[in-house]
Amino acid sequence: MQHETELKILKELMRQLDKKVNVDAGVRYRAPTDSYVDPDIAEREWTTFFQGHPQLIGLTGDLPEPGSYFTTDDFGTPVLATRDDDGRFRAFLNACRHRGVRVANEPRGDSRRFMCPFHSWTYASDGALVGVPREADFGEVDRSCNGLIELPAEESKGMLWVHPRPDAELNPEALLGDLDDELDSWNAANYVYMGETVIERDLNWKLANDTFGETYHFQRLHKDTLGQLFYGDALAYETFGRNHRFVFASRGIDGLRDLPESEWSLDAAANVLYFLFPNIQFNVGRDSILLIRIYPKKGNPGRSLTRIGYYYSPEAVTAMEAAKQSGEKTITADTVYDYDERNAALAFTLEASKEVFDSTIEQEDYAMGETTQKAAENGLLTHLIFGRNEPALHHYHNTFREALNLPPLERVE
Ligand code: FES
Ligand SMILES: [Fe+2]
Repeated sequence: MQHETELKILKELMRQLDKKVNVDAGVRYRAPTDSYVDPDIAEREWTTFFQGHPQLIGLTGDLPEPGSYFTTDDFGTPVLATRDDDGRFRAFLNACRHRGVRVANEPRGDSRRFMCPFHSWTYASDGALVGVPREADFGEVDRSCNGLIELPAEESKGMLWVHPRPDAELNPEALLGDLDDELDSWNAANYVYMGETVIERDLNWKLANDTFGETYHFQRLHKDTLGQLFYGDALAYETFGRNHRFVFASRGIDGLRDLPESEWSLDAAANVLYFLFPNIQFNVGRDSILLIRIYPKKGNPGRSLTRIGYYYSPEAVTAMEAAKQSGEKTITADTVYDYDERNAALAFTLEASKEVFDSTIEQEDYAMGETTQKAAENGLLTHLIFGRNEPALHHYHNTFREALNLPPLERVE
C-alpha cells in the first residue's frame, strides 16, 4: 500500500478514536431476512455467484513448485489445481474421462501423475491422459481429446483464480479494479501456505460474511478476546466497485503518536481486511495473510462452510521452524528460547493469533449468526437494521441484491 494511503487511513482512525465517533454512512437500512432463508434466492446465488462467477481458490503458496497440487470441491465444481512441469498454474475438472470418477482424492500434495482409483487411467499435471490399462481390451482411446477437462485459470498478484465454466472469460484484473495495484503491494506471492481451518455451521453464508462487516461488536461480543487487541467503534472504510477495504485500529496505533509520520505504518497499528465479491475476506499483514472463503451449502440456505487458509511470510516461517527445533513441543508464553528472541516472539504471536482468530470466529461470531439464522427461519422477524456505523453491510447487501435483480435495501427514515 502506498505510504500516503496508510497515512490517510491512520489519521482517519485516530480522528475517530479521539472524537469517540465511528465511521458514519449517514444512513440506516432495513435488510429483509428472507435472503438468509429463501431457497429460491439460495439457488440463484449458487448459480450466479458460485457456478457462474470466478473463484479465488488459493494463493501461489498453495502450489509451491512444479508437481504441487490441491483439490477443492466447495462451489459445486470439483477442481484439481496443479502446477505443471513448466511451473504454470492449471485447473481441471477433477473427473476421469472414462466414467467420471474423481482422479485426485487427497486435499493436497506433490504428484506429477494422477491415477484414477477405478480402472487406473492416468493423467499428467498438465491434464494429459498418459495411461490406459489393457487398451487392446477396452478399445483405443484418443489421447489428444481425452485429457482432463481444463478450466480457465489465472495466477495473478499471488492469487489463484479459476472459473467453474470451461468456456468462460477470466480476468482477475477486471475483478479487482482499482484495488489491483494495492493488493499487489502486499506480495502475497511470497507467502508460504501453513495450514487451514474449516468451520461448518448452521448459518447462511451471508450471515457468516456479515460478521466481518462492522467493528460495532468488538467491545461487546469480543470484549475479552479480540477487543483486548483491537479498538472497536472505529473504522476506515472505502469501496472499490463490488469490493471494499475495511481497516480497524489495533492498540498499537497509540504507539505511533510519538513518532514522525514518515515512520508510521499500518503493520503494527491496524488490521487490513479486503472483501472481494462475492465470498472472500482477505486479511493482510506483514507476517501473515489469511484467505477466508465462505461458501453456501447447496440446497440448504441455513448452512455454510468457511475455509480459513493461513499463509506466513518467509521470515515468519523461519521463525516457526526455529521454534520447533528448540525442542519445545508446545509454544507457550513461558517457553524459554536459546535463539533469537524476535523469532520466538514472532512464532508465538502467530500461533496465538491463529488460535484466537479461529476460536473467536467459531465460538463468538458464528454462534451469533446461528441464532439470527433461527430467528430468520421462524419468519416472524422479517427485517434486520444496518446502522450508520455499519457501511460494509450496506454495500455488501446492496451489491449482491443488485447482482440478483432484487430490490435495494430500504432506507430507515
Ligand atoms: S472411471 Fe476412471 S479409470 Fe474408469
Ligand atoms: Fe467478530
